[in-house]
Formats: sequence, structure tokens, C-alpha cells
Amino acid sequence: MKFQQICILGLGYIGLPTASMFATHGVKVLGVDTNLGILETLNSGRLHIHEPGLGEVVENAVKSGNLKLAASPEPSDAFIIAVPTPFYDSDFGQYNGQSYKKADMRAVIAATEAVLPHLRKGNLVVLESTSPPRTTVDLLVPILERSGLKAGLDFFVAYSPERVLPGQILRELVENARVIGGLTPESAQAGSDLYATFVRGQIHKTDATTAEMVKLMENTYRDVNIAIANEFSRLAERFGVDVWEAIQLSSLHPRVKILNPGPGVGGHCISVDPWFFVETAPDLSVLIQRARQVNDSQPEFVVELVKKALGSLPGKKIAALGLAYKPDVDDLRESPAVEVVHLLTRAGASVVAFEPFKPQANLPGVKALPSLSEAVQDADALLLLVNHTEFRQLTPSMLVSLTPARILIDTVNGWAGSDWAGSGFNLFRLGVGK
Ligand SMILES: NC(=O)c1ccc[n+]([C@@H]2O[C@H](COP(=O)([O-])OP(=O)(O)OC[C@H]3O[C@@H](n4cnc5c(N)ncnc54)[C@H](O)[C@@H]3O)[C@@H](O)[C@H]2O)c1
Repeated sequence: MKFQQICILGLGYIGLPTASMFATHGVKVLGVDTNLGILETLNSGRLHIHEPGLGEVVENAVKSGNLKLAASPEPSDAFIIAVPTPFYDSDFGQYNGQSYKKADMRAVIAATEAVLPHLRKGNLVVLESTSPPRTTVDLLVPILERSGLKAGLDFFVAYSPERVLPGQILRELVENARVIGGLTPESAQAGSDLYATFVRGQIHKTDATTAEMVKLMENTYRDVNIAIANEFSRLAERFGVDVWEAIQLSSLHPRVKILNPGPGVGGHCISVDPWFFVETAPDLSVLIQRARQVNDSQPEFVVELVKKALGSLPGKKIAALGLAYKPDVDDLRESPAVEVVHLLTRAGASVVAFEPFKPQANLPGVKALPSLSEAVQDADALLLLVNHTEFRQLTPSMLVSLTPARILIDTVNGWAGSDWAGSGFNLFRLGVGK
């Protein structure tokens, strides 16, 4: 199939790079977002998200005349839906006395309904948003068939998960293998033809529900493996062991590769997606649910470590270094660092945070300052929550003049490389029993 005009709904971390990529490869793209502030920012030549190289690609896409922006879709050859699929904050499901988080599919429903008036014979609709199993078949298709057209016969429907790594999105969009699950083999072929516009990695065709499951399985696999690393960090502390050393030595085994512990698991994917299995099959997802609970409770373990380092929390001034959910990105969604700050504040500590990738971060219950020097200037302790390169490079000689704090708490093994012994700083590391 040939696609001359496409429409991408949702211009966030996934939709905007994808739209720009199609546009710079000769396809006319209408980028749609319901957030008018985002459209205004993009129309003024600025970006609302941080992603290396993205500014230039968006600029080229707009200059080429191929990328246009709007608040609602228009008739197109294909529609790609890349809107958020978070979970509800306060609406939980229950199974066997355990509560689980439920997917909030309202944006997917709204975006699909927005496509409906423009759907024509021969169109392709692709869902990229990470979704619970069977969303394409049970949610998307019934909405689209309200058009009177028959999915798989009159128009094509596919699910294609996005697996790019924030920070590397532009390279991975092109190079990563892509899975395209069609409602029918013809739908998978149509999806494959569409993404072949710019994808250089292999394109694997399958059915829609398999493609949905592939994405969830990848992130659930990582979540469960991080949970065991986090549990190892607790066990190591109990037994007076350095978990980082133990992990390194265990991983010398040719068939063992243990991931790193930390303050928890965040972001829009790994901390969310496993719930989509639990919600849809709680009777079969016992391990997945337990892993989620371990990772969600890791911020409490960090608070215990801080308490140990400081003796008590009320009144103590703590500078929290980093709020992002992982190193060198600006994404604060579901970040365990933010949760740690909330818990410490609730326990009576006075916490100020500094996030170099979002110095103006404005989150409820978090006092963020725009520079490192301001955040640490009268702290009792520095708490390293995100392994940003900028923080990892801090040395005793740099810190000694910046802060009166002599207690350092490292939850990400970022300061293991520096020689803190004899520096006057007392370093407490997560997962290291003293
Ligand atoms: N960010 C990642 O690294 C990543 C990786 C893989 C998969 N995903 C998945 O991709 C999907 C999108 O994630 P994201 O990170 O790009 O989200 P995002 O929040 O950065 O962007 C989504 C955009 O969609 C817009 N939107 C919401 N409802 C809309 C509607 N009805 N019509 C049009 N636009 C609408 C929002 O305003 C927002 O700008 C999610 O399902 C996510 O799980 C994300």
C-alpha cells in the first residue's frame, strides 16, 4: 500500500518523533493533539519534551511542508494513535483481597472516536499506545465499525507496539525491529508497508493480540527482574553484604544477568504495563502482581535507609538529587524519586529537589530549586535518586565547597566510583549492609 497522507493522534514522546520521521521521509503528516498548549509550543518552534536531536527533526519536518499540526484529525490514508494509557489513580480493582491498578483507556477511546467521522474504505488504523490484551479487537474495532464499515474487509486495523528508549528515540525508531499485529494478515501487511517508509530494522508481522502481548511481556519481564534485584538489595543490607558487588559476581555466571536495584521503578511503561496483565487476568498474574508490589514499595526502603543515615527525619534538611524516573531524561511520570520525596516530606523532613533535566519542575508536594548549588547549600544530607551523568561526575572536592552536608545517600550506585574514604563525607549506599 502507498500512504501519501497520514494522521498521528498524540504528539508526545512517541507521536511527535514518529510524525516527524514520516514527514522527513516524504509523507504528508497531520499531527493531532488535544492539548492546545502543546500545539502552541510546537507552532512557535519550541518543543514541550526533551529528546536529543528531536528539535532538528521537527524543524526539518515543518520546513519541508510535510508536517502540519491540528487539534482534530482530517481524512487520511492512515491514522496512528499514540495517546497515553496510564492507570487510574484512585479506581482500583480487587481480586482475592489484593488490589490492582486499572488501565485508563479514555484517551484511546477519545482518539478512536475522533478518527471515526473520517474513516474511509481502504484506510489503515494503527494503535501504538501500550494497551491491555485484546484492546484492538474488543475496544478499537467496535468503535471504528460504528462507521458502518467492516474492519479487516473495508479498512485495515493493526496494533504496533513502540519499544524505543527515551534518549535514543530517533535512532531506535529507525533501527529497532518492529512488530505489527494485524486484525487480518492484510492489515498486518498494510501496517508493514506503512512503517517500511522509515524503519530499517526487521518488521515482523503477527496478529493484533500477540503484538499487544509482546509489548506487555517485554516490560513485565523487566519489571519482575528489577523486583528481584530490589529484593536482593534488601537481603544484602540484612546480611551485611554489598549488593552491587554480589550482583557483579553473580553475573559472571554465563547464564545469569541480574539487573540493578534502585529506588523503585517508574516511567510510563515498566511501572504501568504489568498491571494490564493483572487487571485482565488477576487469577493468572500472581508473580507479576507481587513484583509490582515489591517495586512500588522500594521508595519506603529508601526512606528507611535515609532514616538510618540521619538518625531521624523530622526537621532534617535533605537535598534530593534527581526527580526523573531514570538517568538523563526529563520524564517525571510515575517516578519513584518523586515518591521518595513525598514520603520523606510526610515523615517530617524538609526536602528540596533539583532535577537538571527539568529545573523548573512544578509538582504538587515537591519543592524543586533550579540549580544544584541552591538545592544543596544548607542541606544536612544529599540523597542521590537518579543516576544522571551530571550527578555521577560529582566528586568530594566539588561537593565540599557547595554544601555543608557531610552525609551522602546513594540509591543508584552513582558514587561508587569516587574515593569518598577519608574525604570527610559519610556515604550510605542502597543495598550495602554496614
Ligand atoms: N514514552 C515512551 O518511552 C513510550 C515507549 C513505548 C510505548 N509508549 C506508549 O505510547 C503511548 C504514548 O506515550 P507517550 O510517552 O508518547 O505519551 P505522552 O503523554 O508523551 O503523549 C501523548 C500525547 O497525546 C495527547 N492526547 C491525549 N489524548 C488525546 C486525544 N484524544 N487525541 C489526540 N491527542 C491526545 C496528549 O496531549 C499528549 O501530548 C502510551 O501508551 C505509552 O505507554 C511510550
